[in-house]
Amino acid sequence: MRLLIVGNGGRASALALKLSEDTRITKMFFAPGNATTQKIGENINETDILKLRDFAVKQNVDLTIVGPEAPLVEGIVDEFKKVDLRVFGPSKKAASLEGSKAFSKKFMQTYGIKTAKAVIFDSYPEAKEYLQSQKFPLVIKASGLAGGKGVVIAEDLEHAEGTIHDFMIKRIFGDAGIQVVIEEFLQGFEASIIAFSNGHQFFPCVAAKDYKKAGNGDTGPNTGGMGSVAPSPEFTDAHNRDFVQNIMNPTLEGLKKEGLGFKGFIFFGLMVTANGTYLLEYNMRLGDPETQVLMPLLENNLVDVIEDCLQGKELNLQFKNKKAVCLVVCSGGYPKNYETGYEITGVDKVKNSTILYAGADYRGNKVVTTGGRVLNIVALGDTYEEARKKVYEDAVPIHFDYAFYRDDIAKF
Ligand code: AMP
Ligand code: GLY
Repeated sequence: MRLLIVGNGGRASALALKLSEDTRITKMFFAPGNATTQKIGENINETDILKLRDFAVKQNVDLTIVGPEAPLVEGIVDEFKKVDLRVFGPSKKAASLEGSKAFSKKFMQTYGIKTAKAVIFDSYPEAKEYLQSQKFPLVIKASGLAGGKGVVIAEDLEHAEGTIHDFMIKRIFGDAGIQVVIEEFLQGFEASIIAFSNGHQFFPCVAAKDYKKAGNGDTGPNTGGMGSVAPSPEFTDAHNRDFVQNIMNPTLEGLKKEGLGFKGFIFFGLMVTANGTYLLEYNMRLGDPETQVLMPLLENNLVDVIEDCLQGKELNLQFKNKKAVCLVVCSGGYPKNYETGYEITGVDKVKNSTILYAGADYRGNKVVTTGGRVLNIVALGDTYEEARKKVYEDAVPIHFDYAFYRDDIAKF
């Protein structure tokens, strides 16, 4: 089997490692990949979806798995299917459940999915007018893709007005901010549930917890994710029943009614409040860094599971009875401005964890930083404390200039 994995984050590394157990796979291409995937397969410096399609045809790729949202929203799955390539992911239309927060909010409202109350605006004066009568905090979201930075919790009217001005007039996220979703602030804890879809059913993984804020104690700006844990210690069976009944099942119904059934991953970003489990967002892909803790727990062979989904079969997902912890080591300044090109050393001294590179590439035989989230340290344990101890001990010898990470991942 020959595989193509689209993506370059720690998520692509986690997939690479999981897939490398499968002896049927003779070749893995990663587009564009990173320092981990380069050692497991071959990195392809290409992100254009039509060029990737031509590449997959030429290289007789049997299966393509798409990691990030941008190519899905651009329609990579539709393009691959046109030439009979086998690909795991949603159509362009279904991916707009992630690509347009306005579209997904309307979908949630239409199908009675439990979500924060919200109003959608494409007129700046109307949005500004609406803000005058609101209570704060309030959540303001750019509708389009903004690399995880398009959501602002506005603490007061001034902050809210500044935000809609930035999004709609200054267009700091380009066209992504022309439309905004203004919604009620929900207080609680977050959980990420990623499910496999076989076109007509969902098969959820264990719930994971992502640490979204840059600083200890959930302070500072939102990031792509500073660490993760699975299973989530906070998400109980009762929360799960609420999720299945009020979010997962009506989502499936809605997708069927809209003719949006797809074979791929769906990620439910949840907020669990005193009033139950609410859906904040859909991502139509695996999460990063959730994948880094889910893949080592998944007992099933990943290719088998994906093949079964592609054939519309039922899955029986099994997860190890262990706790998985992932610590993300970042470039100084992330998620704002940071520098790259620093050499990473000490990885050879790591003892009890797995290192998954993310924003890091080989330059000759050195590995240097290329992104904000540089590498992931992942470990399993019988308890959270055991897994946590492993990742933090293994973080000590790893060095690059201005590196930082949170101290409180998996501290319960
Ligand atoms: P989203 O991309 O919609 O998931 O939003 C990104 C992050 O913003 C979420 O993971 C939450 O931390 C936060 N957030 C989004 N919507 C809300 C909300 N209605 N109430 C509180 N926090 C929110
Ligand atoms: N960790 C959240 C995401 O992948 O969007």
